[in-house]
Amino acid sequence: MVQISDPHIFAPGQLMEGRVDTAEGLRLAVQVAESLEPDLIVMSGDLVNDGEADQYANLRDLLGAVTRPLLLVAGNHDDRDSVRALASSLETAVEPLTSRHGELEYDIGGGPEKNLRIIVVDTVREGFHSGLLTDERLRALDAQLGSEEPTLIVQHHPPFTSGIDFMDHYGLEGGASELDVLARHPEVVAVLTGHLHRHAVHIRSGLPVVTAPSSAAQVSLDLHGGPTAYTEEPGAILVHRLDGSSLTTHVQPLRGASTWRPAWAL
Ligand SMILES: [Fe+2]
Ligand SMILES: [Fe+2]
Repeated sequence: MVQISDPHIFAPGQLMEGRVDTAEGLRLAVQVAESLEPDLIVMSGDLVNDGEADQYANLRDLLGAVTRPLLLVAGNHDDRDSVRALASSLETAVEPLTSRHGELEYDIGGGPEKNLRIIVVDTVREGFHSGLLTDERLRALDAQLGSEEPTLIVQHHPPFTSGIDFMDHYGLEGGASELDVLARHPEVVAVLTGHLHRHAVHIRSGLPVVTAPSSAAQVSLDLHGGPTAYTEEPGAILVHRLDGSSLTTHVQPLRGASTWRPAWAL
């Protein structure tokens, strides 16, 4: 399974902050992902930058190159209805659950092989960059869990404090309570998120939370409270390999991945 995150697509020809070609980032991400022939491509939110229709139209064109099953998750820069419409218009996209409150969620797998279940939790708090999981949602998640198959939780906002202050400022209210809920369910293998624009691993009580880099721009690793800043680090994707209930995650940068062979191995 490949995870592409935070592509932040603009209208055609527009750059992020006048400098980052986010469309090119996603084009590369899709190309690398497709070359790996994954069983699933998960896009963990902030699919476009401002929730606008022309941005979703551009995203739709860029995702035309995807041939693998595709899971579209909403982030704080997204418009849920537009993501839902996009999911139903793309042949390879998985259909989201019907939800009473408009959340964009999924619960897939759990078939007779019982080899993997993926639950997408919608952490978007409309009108805010920070996320929210209400007590009601967490009770429902608790009830949703409890099956036998290894389960991955996918969501946009990470449920932990990263130490990068300017990102933690837009964190997830209810995140610590979510980890308490998940800790009661041994079938949960890991939580996979976006939003941080940087790869990080957080482990609490043996449960790993893995954040994905962005295909567009990476957040600066500033653990001393400095202002919001990004880096020139290349975009990257995560490649998750599940073997039974054990998960291995690889980070694949989108540039500089051409190979060479050492003389001793020839
Ligand atoms: Fe983002
Ligand atoms: Fe985000």
